[in-house]
Amino acid sequence: MSDMYPNVERRRIAHSEPFGIAEQAAADIALKMGGGPHHVAVILGSGWGEATQHLGDLRREVMLLDLPGFAASTVPGHGGSVRSTVIGDKRVLTFEGRAHLYEGNSTAQVVHAVRTAVMSGCDVVVLTNAAGAVNLDYEVGQGVVISDHLNLTGHSPLWGAPPPRPYAQRFVDLTDAYSPRLRALAKEAAPDVVEGVYAAMHGPHYETPAEIEVLRTMGADLVGMSTVLETIAARHLGAEVLGLSLVTNAAAGVTGRPLDHNEVLDASSEAAERMGELISGVIERL
Ligand code: HPA
Repeated sequence: MSDMYPNVERRRIAHSEPFGIAEQAAADIALKMGGGPHHVAVILGSGWGEATQHLGDLRREVMLLDLPGFAASTVPGHGGSVRSTVIGDKRVLTFEGRAHLYEGNSTAQVVHAVRTAVMSGCDVVVLTNAAGAVNLDYEVGQGVVISDHLNLTGHSPLWGAPPPRPYAQRFVDLTDAYSPRLRALAKEAAPDVVEGVYAAMHGPHYETPAEIEVLRTMGADLVGMSTVLETIAARHLGAEVLGLSLVTNAAAGVTGRPLDHNEVLDASSEAAERMGELISGVIERL
């Protein structure tokens, strides 16, 4: 069974003992990357691959499938490695590719990279994503700093058994989930960048125009299918979070044209470079 469906076995492990598996993955990263703890983690979302050129000098790269608990991505636009780079005096772990709920992953699997990164020493986590613009003032190709989120996935990474010692209790505070300090640094690095509220849907289907109208009424500026569970997991472990969305399309119903994942990938590769510079600008200011 596990030969035929290697991911099934990996997912079961991650779900039953998520903190322990992340500790093992962090120990493996320390062994394979060498050089002591890392400081900053960057998780690259759909089509953000081009940003890596701006995320420091590459020291080591490890395939995610060679680390405990990671499953292969089933989404075009998501690579499968973690890179160790250096920006200024900070060691950066960049995860190319993420796990989504809509792939059939457990919440433990979705946040595994973030937990692994924090256990590798990262106390700053940069979460990037591709998003649809609910805010009618946004343009395709624009970067937006996430100021807050609406978790409409119906899930939490802290669901289930209480976190084992020495981890914090499950009732994590999400006031200032997206670090005001890091948001201010992003503004310093890119003065024109705007802030917005990110609404996370379960997916993988896109929204209906009626759903987008409701999201707008609720205060959402952006809509996507990721990030929020990772933010919750990072905050639970005490890391600061910077969330960055790349607007890849107007949300459903805005233009009248159908939404298409290829369009999402095209828009992101053009803008990812600029956003990579923004991320390294923030890391240099830490
Ligand atoms: N909706 C949900 N997720 C997305 C979108 C969208 O319009 N664009 C990119 N990811």
